[in-house]
Amino acid sequence: MTRKIHIFDTTLRDGEQSPGASMNTEEKLVIAQQLIRMGVDVIEAGFPISSPGDFRSVAEIGRLAGDDCVVCGLTRAVEKDIDRAAEALATAKRPRIHTGIGVSPSHLHDKLRITEDECVERAIHCVEYAKRYVEDVEFYAEDAGRADQAFLERVIQAVVKAGATVVNIPDTTGYQLPEDFGRRIKGLADNVIGIENVIISVHTHNDLGMATALALQGVKNGARQIECTVNGLGERAGNTALEEVVMAIKMHGEELDAHTDIVTQELTRASHLVSRITGMSVQANKAIVGANAFAHSSGIHQDGVLKARNTYEIIDPADVGAAGSEIILSARSGHAALRHRLAELGYTFEDAEFDEVYQRFLEIADQKKEVYDEDLESMVQERQRDVAA
Ligand code: KIV
Ligand code: ZN
Repeated sequence: MTRKIHIFDTTLRDGEQSPGASMNTEEKLVIAQQLIRMGVDVIEAGFPISSPGDFRSVAEIGRLAGDDCVVCGLTRAVEKDIDRAAEALATAKRPRIHTGIGVSPSHLHDKLRITEDECVERAIHCVEYAKRYVEDVEFYAEDAGRADQAFLERVIQAVVKAGATVVNIPDTTGYQLPEDFGRRIKGLADNVIGIENVIISVHTHNDLGMATALALQGVKNGARQIECTVNGLGERAGNTALEEVVMAIKMHGEELDAHTDIVTQELTRASHLVSRITGMSVQANKAIVGANAFAHSSGIHQDGVLKARNTYEIIDPADVGAAGSEIILSARSGHAALRHRLAELGYTFEDAEFDEVYQRFLEIADQKKEVYDEDLESMVQERQRDVAA
């Protein structure tokens, strides 16, 4: 049996930090319902001290989730944040407080203006303080991707000793290269005493377009939780996309020694829902859930897919709840695709006639980005009229 990788969804917290993507409580509840249906292990429902609306969202989602999943609220390493998160999470059957502090030189010197010793002290205190309220306390080491490794290990050692159940290693600025991030996780897995009793979590951002690669390197090197968002929503270039890591683990489970419990057939529905509610459209060529993820446009690819789907498709669209493979007719399409679509519309032609039909098709296709069924219907009718005349 491969290792279970916990999927920690932060669409409603880090995802919502995406400019223009804010949601009200009712909208968050609709998304939370879909996340539960999809089988996520943890929902990060918000940052309770940030606003009364976020407080309410965390409380309502805590009530909604019941035993289905862990519900988590974010805090800074500040007592009043933790008090407020505990209050919001009182409705949850499986509450988790997610607290932490910056650990990189830039966070220590420029943002927090504290020494390394003060940082360790505050890290220990926030975990111990949160433990007064809940058993399940996750610690985040913000900007771990740019931290000194020895100092990161010192902080993580201290919070593990203080009782953290999960340690989150974020590459907050999306700066790391996958192999280096993997080495960071391995360093923690090898050197922190007692780490085998806690879950190492990876939380990566997409500033260099490598969030998914980093998360998977984390998993290869000992992480057992991935923090991610639907459609990769999030600050700046976004967070790790849930659908990408889940499908990568599904496709490469053996080599990663990993599996998730996500109902992958719900991924497309989740993507559409989040896009509709946030108003953030999904790029057409987005992996797994983009409109073109299973669309084939060139003649060579179309011919291959029509002969055997797996020549150019590694995922069965049904596995992610997508409508199916699509053959897009354009000036790049070949005979096979046109013949196939015409046959689906009920038109078949002898080889000799078909060459002429194909030439007519190319003339239309050269004027348009895509040739639709209506174009084919009028092309065939026009030809029938010409032949009859
Ligand atoms: O990117 C980050 O470091 C975060 C933390 C608050 C977990 O979102
Ligand atoms: Zn983040």
